[in-house]
Amino acid sequence: CGIVGYIGYRDAYPIVIKGLHRLEYRGYDSAGIALNNKGLKVYKKAGKVSDLENFVKDIDLTATAGMGHTRWATHGAPSDRNSHPHSSGDRKLTIIHNGIIENYVVLKEALLAKGHIFKSDTDTEVLIHLVEDIQQETGLDLREAVRLALNRVVGAYAIVIMSADAPDELIAARKGSPMVIGVGKGEYFVASDATPIVEYTKNVIYLNDNEIAYIKRDDLLIKNIDNTIQTPYIQELELQLEMLEKGGFDHFMLKEIYEQPRSIRDCMRGRIYPKEGYVQLGGIKEYVEKLKNIDRIIIVACGTSWHAGLVGEYLIEEYARVPVEVEYASEFRYRNPIISEKDLVIAISQSGETADTMAAIELAKEKGATIFGICNVVGASIPRITHAGVYTHAGPEIGVASTKAFTAQVTVLTLMAFYIAQQRGTITQSKFVEYLTELNEIPDLVEKALLSNEQVKIIAERFKDSTNCLFLGRGSSFPVALEGALKLKEISYIHAEGYPAAEMKHGPIALIDADMPVIFIATKNSSYEKVVSNIQEVKARGGHVIAIVSEGDTDVKEMAEYVIEIPQTGETFVPLLATIPLQLLAYHIAVLRDCNVDQPRNLAKSVTVE
Ligand code: G6P
Repeated sequence: CGIVGYIGYRDAYPIVIKGLHRLEYRGYDSAGIALNNKGLKVYKKAGKVSDLENFVKDIDLTATAGMGHTRWATHGAPSDRNSHPHSSGDRKLTIIHNGIIENYVVLKEALLAKGHIFKSDTDTEVLIHLVEDIQQETGLDLREAVRLALNRVVGAYAIVIMSADAPDELIAARKGSPMVIGVGKGEYFVASDATPIVEYTKNVIYLNDNEIAYIKRDDLLIKNIDNTIQTPYIQELELQLEMLEKGGFDHFMLKEIYEQPRSIRDCMRGRIYPKEGYVQLGGIKEYVEKLKNIDRIIIVACGTSWHAGLVGEYLIEEYARVPVEVEYASEFRYRNPIISEKDLVIAISQSGETADTMAAIELAKEKGATIFGICNVVGASIPRITHAGVYTHAGPEIGVASTKAFTAQVTVLTLMAFYIAQQRGTITQSKFVEYLTELNEIPDLVEKALLSNEQVKIIAERFKDSTNCLFLGRGSSFPVALEGALKLKEISYIHAEGYPAAEMKHGPIALIDADMPVIFIATKNSSYEKVVSNIQEVKARGGHVIAIVSEGDTDVKEMAEYVIEIPQTGETFVPLLATIPLQLLAYHIAVLRDCNVDQPRNLAKSVTVE
């Protein structure tokens, strides 16, 4: 979910609503606002932020303090009444919340017994009633009542509370869910990430877990949940406003696909030295000795980041010769995994906030493993709890379907594979020079791979009405097939599966008929001939073959109905190129099917619940 709040001298509503648009990628099944102008005014609506805007368009919304929320439903279906803000029984308090109150059932029962009446099915409403109840019972002021209530909550939260009786204050708190405070002159902003804040101020404070902020127009007090005053640390944001705009593209996703030559270059900048045959990763350099002695690497991640992890497995095993396991964070955390101090755990997360990945890190940490992070969002929660890490530097990714973050993750994993190899002496110096020279050219080759766009559009037009689709690849192109399938299903709602090409004959082959497009990654690498045989198997059963091939390929061209050419490169770098046309294919099919490309239904970009 997304949270934004403002208190200052300007009109709050335009700031809040613009902030909600910027945060919509975090969830978009309902939205709401609260404004404080001679009493609390709360408006909320199921649907997108634009539905809320329509709903309030004729209402006087003047106020200099306000907050808003855009929701990704957990407890309670998306509806007007389950939308945030939620208010107390006397309607004098209202709250927006991101996270989950795990003990809400117990709290709710106690409050019901005392006569509290609830209007929604949410866990959030319970929290605001709890604050009200504490105030009524103890007569304490709001600040103290909020603090005591939070002490009784089990779970994760980022909250903002407004009160009719304290119109000049916002109270914000965090535990396990991110919260940033923007510091202006005579005004403060608060949000679940910096994107709604950056156009007003670059000075921000990242709230730590268990901190509560009492925010007035010209005063900010931060306390710990145990009531000790904290000294805020003000940082300067590196985020630029242009990074959050579409820059002439129809969708963020397309913009982000086209940014990849730059984002991959940024990711490698200052880290690779091809002439010297040398990789430098400042973020993990203190662990050089450790890397010489590790027995095993475990990669934990979710979604697209997990696919990047699978590519990483090939890369690290190939170059650094360390055994690698890749785990879904959600599975890893609940199965009593065997971990020792000689294990290195690499957590991959674009947002740096994914709840399951965070829990997997905590578990591995408890068992003594060393944890590296590969994250995109600077200062997010995961980079704070890992021992060391390497940022992907892809810049903000707004489209919910991950594109440039994926290729940047693969780039970092490539660099890490080489870095570990360097420490363990598993590659000769001349090979290092050769590989790094090739890697250094990848951004230019990605630029060329983007030229496939027109051809991809033709293919999209041809297959836009398919109901199923199969993606096949071998070696490190297998995870690319998985990622291609995920992209298509996420944004176009066509059922798609990725498979190792050779495994097709053990099941998916049964699905092949004259309606089934099968997309092969058939570049000129070690398994080329094998993939060619798999293509024949599909053809023999009447399936439609679309093949991604190396520039100048002739054999597959004769067999496939459509081919998409990408530049020739070394086997381990193919994922960085082969992914590009698959992203474009999903994009164009989704556009042709009239789907909401940047905000596909039911998904959220940052999943802060398990
Ligand atoms: C969500 C997003 C995916 C993403 C996954 C993991 O499901 O929609 O695009 O791959 O979370 O997110 P992370 O931020 O940890 O990479």
